[in-house]
Amino acid sequence: MRGQVSRWVRRVVAACLSLGAVATPAAAAPLEERVEALLAQMTLEEKAGQLNLISNEPILDSGAFARGEVGAVINFSNAWLAADADRLARASRLGIPLLVGLDVVHGYRTVFPLPLALAASFDPLLVRRSTAAMARESAAVGINWTFAPMADVARDLRWGRVVEGLGEDPWLTGRLTGAQVEGFRDGGLASTLKHFAGYGAVLGGRDYDATFVSGAELHDLHLPPFRAGIRSGADAVMTALTALNGVPTTADTGLMTGILRRQLGFSGLVVADWQAVSSLVKHGVARNGAEAVRKAMLAGVDMDMTSGLYLRHLPEEVRSGRVPEGAVDAAVRRVLRLKFGLGLFDKPLLDPAGAEARLLLPETRRIAREAARASLVLLQNREEVLPIDPKKVRRIALVGPFADAAWDQVGPHEGTGQPHDTVTILAGLRERAAAAGVEVVFAEGCSRTCLDREGFPAAVRAAQEADLVVAVMGEPRDRSGEGSSTAYLDWPGLQHDLLAAVAAPGKPVALVVFGGRPTELGAALERAHAVLMAWIPGTEGGPAIAETLFGDANPSGKLPVSWPRSVGQMPLTYDVLPGGRPHQPNSRWTMGYADASPLPLFPFGHGLSYTRFDYGEPEVLTPRVGPGDQSDAALEVRAAVTNIGARPGRAVAQLYLSQPVAARSRPKRLLKGAVPLDLAPGETRYAQFRIPVRDLGYHEPDGTLVVEAGEYRVTVGGDSTATRSAGVTVDTGWRGPPGGDQALR
Ligand code: NOJ
Repeated sequence: MRGQVSRWVRRVVAACLSLGAVATPAAAAPLEERVEALLAQMTLEEKAGQLNLISNEPILDSGAFARGEVGAVINFSNAWLAADADRLARASRLGIPLLVGLDVVHGYRTVFPLPLALAASFDPLLVRRSTAAMARESAAVGINWTFAPMADVARDLRWGRVVEGLGEDPWLTGRLTGAQVEGFRDGGLASTLKHFAGYGAVLGGRDYDATFVSGAELHDLHLPPFRAGIRSGADAVMTALTALNGVPTTADTGLMTGILRRQLGFSGLVVADWQAVSSLVKHGVARNGAEAVRKAMLAGVDMDMTSGLYLRHLPEEVRSGRVPEGAVDAAVRRVLRLKFGLGLFDKPLLDPAGAEARLLLPETRRIAREAARASLVLLQNREEVLPIDPKKVRRIALVGPFADAAWDQVGPHEGTGQPHDTVTILAGLRERAAAAGVEVVFAEGCSRTCLDREGFPAAVRAAQEADLVVAVMGEPRDRSGEGSSTAYLDWPGLQHDLLAAVAAPGKPVALVVFGGRPTELGAALERAHAVLMAWIPGTEGGPAIAETLFGDANPSGKLPVSWPRSVGQMPLTYDVLPGGRPHQPNSRWTMGYADASPLPLFPFGHGLSYTRFDYGEPEVLTPRVGPGDQSDAALEVRAAVTNIGARPGRAVAQLYLSQPVAARSRPKRLLKGAVPLDLAPGETRYAQFRIPVRDLGYHEPDGTLVVEAGEYRVTVGGDSTATRSAGVTVDTGWRGPPGGDQALR
């Protein structure tokens, strides 16, 4: 491929040099002037070309670059391909450089934990630093635009894409989406918020299925992370592949223009998701490609990803008067603004030769390891089996199909992550144990499908002869991610039988749960003393887990999703409405199931530490707060947090809001603040929360923000079941302008 593209480059550059130069204002001219000067010279075909994003496919027509038919690319994911494509584009009549895009979901070559795992850190600064490191690696190979972050809230764990998002909560998702946008910018990439909107509500968790979301829920739940990402300066927004309330988002003028542009004030680039324009025909809202183009363009979609239909039909749609040229110009302006804003016209072509040396740098791996450590969630630790005490534990039996699973460890959406760069849990544990003089005996027990018991006897022997069993079990990489929704949340194969077999000799068992999202634990909770959620931890997952098992690092991750008991509970989230018959155990006529508890196994926000924390009563520093239309009006709360254990550790103080009586029934609690605090043994510090008054409100179906006067409560603690609370009064109620809270910014 590389040689082929290079030959095209040479031929095309030679041809273009003979055509004569095109006038473009100097780099010092204001951006808008440069955009207009360029736009004024463009033919309709060249405009359609700028709105055309193509993928690196085997049938690629590379002459399209030189003809000015390509504005952006995806999956040209190595430095040679990216540089060649860009060189070809720059040799076109107008010499416009390419947007080189890629899904940088959790890394380019150094793979970080998946976003859902990163979210468990509850730490925007760490998320920003990690994202910047991923972006720097990607930029080194010529990528300048990423199709991330995913700002969809995930309400159903069957949906495979929960792993790409930041959990079930709109506030946390918003905070961390903003951090990702900033991180991508720090590292040199333009960002894309996706998928607008409501994709997280797919029916039954089935990928690409329909979504039905009420207006109030759309504004309260699904849009806040997008609002946060836009406020942080996101460059682009991607449509969803789904239909929201019956209208495919890619053809939804009310959504893409009314809400995104007018209510949320987004002025950047809107890109359709993969073939989402052509799929309007499949959705049954367009008769043919031309009509699909018309609908998407008129709805407000600037760029067509990989359907090729804008290129094919847009010029004729304009000439026939069916699409105003002004709409096309506005879209092209957004593309050019982004390209000028990124400095693409003024940067020299990438020299691919130096790119490899900037991948997998020790500093990048160091941040990936730090992120993997921060994502680990200690779910249970009976008899304080963890951390491992080398005085008592002289031999460890390491079992389970994911203990030495480099390919699974980089997970879905791994960029160009490689198994051979990855330090597995086996490798990490061996090294750390050796340093403590502890022996590790590895007996996998079964493969990742775990279909037979052949390896069980060896694993049981290892367990019999060990002082501690570390079992790494869960689900492989292909059970989550795009196109990998599942009807079940269990572990594949006979893994529970393997766990039962290695637990039978009676040695303490530490279970390391592997997989993109929570899975049913069932009897594993009794069989294992300690349970550590490892997620899909990436390139440096092995050392991160080993250091945590040995106590060099103290777990501080918190669950960004409620952990279910069974798949039948889906969807299950903490922010439930009280209902007229709130759940009471063993009380038939209250909310719940006849055959199971409706409560999670572990609540949202849960995560243990090797130390313990005490949370004091929250003190409301602003017991009465003013109207929410004053942009600086805020509720201030603090709570003392003390490390009452013997080890240094990190607490994450969480603040939940409730409004017991309101014009409409409101969730029993809503996360509105989280403060990570590093505390030495015996140390007390205050978690300080500042909550803008507008965050107390809810939205009416048209997006009007309402903050009612009256009584509210704040509860502070270590998870969503916290009990210490205090009251606060809002003196003067407030309603935002119809359609949003833009006026408050
Ligand atoms: C389809 C996915 O829905 C989207 O998130 C992704 O960015 C594109 N494919 C490109 O890979």
